[in-house]
Amino acid sequence: MKNTPIDYNKVTTAIEELNLPDLGLATIREIVNLVNIIEAATGEKFIRMEMGVPGLKPPEVGINAEIAALKRGVSSDYPMLDGIKPLKEETSKFVKNFMNIDISAKGCVPTVGSMQGGYATFMLVSNLDPKKDTALFLDPGFSVQKTQFNVMGHKYTNFDVYNYRGEKLRAKLEAIVSKGNINSIIYSNPNNPSWICFNDEELKIIGDIANKYDLIVLEDLAYFAMDFRTDMSKPGEAPYQPSVANYTNNYILMISSSKAFSYAGARLGMLCISDTLYCREYPNLKKRFGVASIGYTLVQRLIYTLSSGVSHSAQYALAAMFEAANNGTFNFVEEVKGYGERAAIMKRIFTENGFKLVYDKDIDQELADGFYFTISYPGMQSGELINKLMYYGISGIGLITCGSDRTEGIRACVSQIKKEQYIDLENRVKAFNKDFPIK
Ligand SMILES: Cc1ncc(COP(=O)(O)O)c(C=O)c1O
Repeated sequence: MKNTPIDYNKVTTAIEELNLPDLGLATIREIVNLVNIIEAATGEKFIRMEMGVPGLKPPEVGINAEIAALKRGVSSDYPMLDGIKPLKEETSKFVKNFMNIDISAKGCVPTVGSMQGGYATFMLVSNLDPKKDTALFLDPGFSVQKTQFNVMGHKYTNFDVYNYRGEKLRAKLEAIVSKGNINSIIYSNPNNPSWICFNDEELKIIGDIANKYDLIVLEDLAYFAMDFRTDMSKPGEAPYQPSVANYTNNYILMISSSKAFSYAGARLGMLCISDTLYCREYPNLKKRFGVASIGYTLVQRLIYTLSSGVSHSAQYALAAMFEAANNGTFNFVEEVKGYGERAAIMKRIFTENGFKLVYDKDIDQELADGFYFTISYPGMQSGELINKLMYYGISGIGLITCGSDRTEGIRACVSQIKKEQYIDLENRVKAFNKDFPIK
């Protein structure tokens, strides 16, 4: 037991010093901190699967446009709150080319990462109607978004979609939404952390419910076109990124530059608000913020007060990347496909050594290989599994922290793993399996 790949005593000391009673409940940043401490104490490199940091270089086309903008001196000017014209226009074209959805440039608004896009839209939906005071997360999900609700003091509820895929989703949504207190439905697709992807049948159900109960769907496309089972990389050609926007006008999309464009450091995402919703007025918005329409409230009240717009030069970077994607000179999907290849190899290593995939199917299809996958080890709860894996130089986060019902699972992110580490991963996982034989 004490003869572990990473020094047993040093790992134990680090875990005890941080005093985290259940690692299954630790936040991403707490696990990051713990692994940093162990790596520093032992000089050993971990298989770091806890945090979704893009592991690729940012695209040249973006960097060059940003440098050119900086040299033109845009840094001295405040950007307009609703974004620079080229970015708004290229985003509208991008949504048409890669989703086949029509959204006017006006409704395409940059935010400081989708993180801020989330914060602003969560605040918006929580203030539309006093009777509808609760947002609904289709979980598992991105845990910080719930922290955002907690910080704001607004209400949310959630359920794990694991047992409610396909047509079963309708009855489950009806049961919750028909109570009358739900203002919005929030999910990511592909999903962080499970990498399940809702299909068109499920997106239609969500759209139907949004229409029937007059709710807003906040569709988080942080992993845009990254379901690599289908090639969505050709502008203006099917298949397109699936979306609820095909089934309702009550939607706001969030497209982040962080993962699909490896531009996380710039902190830039786009809110794409449907044309119908952009102009829609709500008496409670008028009462609460002094203006009635969704678009005006978002831009002139929420984004204004949160950050007064978004880094001027970074907007030129994303405009150039969208433009190049739109005219077919930059295949952004090809750039990030490597994540899927890594996932396939890492999943194989884990499953050949006793681990099980937790979220393993999209109804009747094998799950795609992408940025994340979820694993468990028979007989271990997530806290115990994360704790034990620390001694083997492997880190992940507990699925419970993502709103999952699967208390035994952890999320593995592939982005930081290099090819040269596969051999370490394989040796460590084999040693783990040998030390904890499955009964
Ligand atoms: C589902 C989801 N939404 C939003 C974000 C945040 O994106 P951004 O970096 O644009 O703030 C992430 C980042 O990990 C994510 O996974």
